[in-house]
Amino acid sequence: KLRVKIAENAGFCFGVRRAIDLTEKTAGKERKVYTLGPVIHNPQEVKRLEKKGIKTLKDPKKVKSGSIILRTHGIPCNLHKKLEENKNINVIDAACPFVKRAQNTIKRLSTDIKSKDKTIIVVGEKIHPEVIALVSYGSGKCIIVENIKEAQKFRGRGDLNIVSQTTQTPENFNSIIKVLKKRYKTKVYNTICKATLDRQKAAEKLAKNVDLMIVIGGKNSGNTTRLAQICSEKTKTYHIETACSIKEKWFKNINSVGLTAGASTPDWIIKEIEMRIKEVGAKHYLEFISAADIK
Ligand code: F3S
Repeated sequence: KLRVKIAENAGFCFGVRRAIDLTEKTAGKERKVYTLGPVIHNPQEVKRLEKKGIKTLKDPKKVKSGSIILRTHGIPCNLHKKLEENKNINVIDAACPFVKRAQNTIKRLSTDIKSKDKTIIVVGEKIHPEVIALVSYGSGKCIIVENIKEAQKFRGRGDLNIVSQTTQTPENFNSIIKVLKKRYKTKVYNTICKATLDRQKAAEKLAKNVDLMIVIGGKNSGNTTRLAQICSEKTKTYHIETACSIKEKWFKNINSVGLTAGASTPDWIIKEIEMRIKEVGAKHYLEFISAADIK
C-alpha cells in the first residue's frame, strides 16, 4: 500500500502569489507588459505567463513604453531609480514586502550615523538576485558571507551588523553568527522570512515520516533547492520540475511518499505531479492524506 502525503505550506508563498496576481492584473489591462528577468524562479510558470503576452526582459533599455514588473527578489537600487526616471514606462514593483524589509534594514544601517564604522554582513548566496539587490542598498558597506567557512576566514575592522537573505535556513544563519560573535561585537537583524521557515519545518516533519520525498520546483529556485537538501537529510529525496521526470522505479518497495513544493511552484504543477503519482502508483493501493494528519 503506497501512501502519498502532501506537506503543509507546499507551493506559492504570499510574496510570489502577490507578484503573479500583480502581473496578471496588469496584463489584463495593458498590451505591453514586461517582467525584468523572470518574475519568479519557475520556468514553467514563466512560460505560462509568456503565452499570455507577458514578455521576460533581459535589457530594459530596449523598452520604449509599457509596464515593467519588478520581480519578487527585488532589483539593484540604481537600476530601480533609472527605470522610475523614464516617464514613458510604468514601473510596477512586485518585490515581496519581506524582501523590501531586508532592503530597508540595510539602507537604514548604511546611512545611520551610529552604524558609521560598522560592516554589514549579508548572510546569503553571492550570485542570488535577491542578495545582489540587497547589497546595492548598503552604500558599499556590505560583505556577503555564505557559510561557516567564509565566516571563519572573515577579517574586518569595526563592529558588525548582520542581516540575512530572506530564504536562508536558521541553521546556516545562526552558525555564521556564532562564529562571527567570537571575534566581533555584533548586532543581528533576522530578516529570514517566516513563510520559508514554515515550509521548511513542514517538509522536514514529513520527510521524517515517509520513505521517499518528492520536492517540486524550479532547479533555479534557491528555496526549492534548500527544501530538497533539508528533506534529503531525512529520507531519499528527488527534486523535480515537472511530472515527466517521475520514474516508476522510485516507488518500488516503498510504503509512503511525501510531496512538497517551493515558494515559486504553482498549484497546477503540484496537481499534475499528484496525478502522475496516482497513475504510476496505480499498481499500489493509493491513499492521499494531508500531512496535518501525521501525529
Ligand atoms: Fe516573500 Fe518569503 Fe515568499 S520573502 S517571496 S513571502 S518566501
